[in-house]
Amino acid sequence: MKGIILAGGTGSRLGPMTAAISKQLLPVGDKPMIFYPLSVLMLSGIREVLIISLPRDVPLFRQLLGDGSQFGIHLDYAEQPHPNGLAEAFLIGEEHIGDDSVALVLGDNVFHGPGFQRVLEKHSTAVKGCVLFGYRVSDPERYGVGELDDTGRLLSLEEKPARPRSDLAVTGLYFYDNDVVDIARRVRPSARGELEITDVNRAYLERGLAKMVDLGRGFAWLDTGTPEALLEASQYVRTLEQRQDVGIACLEEVALRMGFIDTEACLAAGRRYGNSRYGRYVMEIARELRD
Ligand code: DAU
Repeated sequence: MKGIILAGGTGSRLGPMTAAISKQLLPVGDKPMIFYPLSVLMLSGIREVLIISLPRDVPLFRQLLGDGSQFGIHLDYAEQPHPNGLAEAFLIGEEHIGDDSVALVLGDNVFHGPGFQRVLEKHSTAVKGCVLFGYRVSDPERYGVGELDDTGRLLSLEEKPARPRSDLAVTGLYFYDNDVVDIARRVRPSARGELEITDVNRAYLERGLAKMVDLGRGFAWLDTGTPEALLEASQYVRTLEQRQDVGIACLEEVALRMGFIDTEACLAAGRRYGNSRYGRYVMEIARELRD
């Protein structure tokens, strides 16, 4: 399975913080926002990832993450000059996807919860159709909304409905089989002029090939869209990290635990971050797993 991180858009609700830099490079806790979605793809076992962003910001992502070899993965970059919609990711990423299945994750989505890796592993193998991940929220009208029947079958999907049929928001993580490129090609711009991901997902639903996994209670899917939400996400991450002395979305740790890199590479990566908490944590983990 290939991975795509969509990290474009103007981030206008975070102005002036986003006037000169991509939203997805802003810090959440002690690391750039994009570390979180990238860790999700890596935890899914994905090692080939395309990062899509504005022409202005692609060089910055490249500077931050390079070719991915320090994480034992391969990173490529592509430009999306205008925010034409999430489904454009499959058109821009067509070559990258090739004849494989693909996971799309939005660059501003932060996921964290127990057993997440198992959920990702389970649903990323042999994808037939599409797999969506639902999360119960108090304000579903702000999101794509899915409706499940008693047996967990997906009945409907709507984008930002005025009267939501359920409180199950569609999160920004999507797994697809290879048909997604063809389906995205056939999607027409919506009233707001975008190629909507919900239209892609609906096409799968009509074929009876869309399923939705409820991430459940006790899981965290955090918003980063406003200054308040960004601060809260940072506080959440720092609270857990400090209380339990664990790293959330520490890419070197994920790479090491997934077997993408060895302890020596992990140590070397930690040293490169200098005397930061993040760097010390990376080295600590490497030593712990080596001894
Ligand atoms: O976060 C989950 C939600 O994401 C889903 O529930 C919705 O169904 C889905 O449409 C999307 O809704 P948003 O209103 O959050 O989409 P937004 O336009 O804000 O874009 C989400 C992120 O993707 C944002 O960081 C900007 C980036 N983006 C957006 C567009 C439209 C791009 O990189 N390129 C784009 O063309």
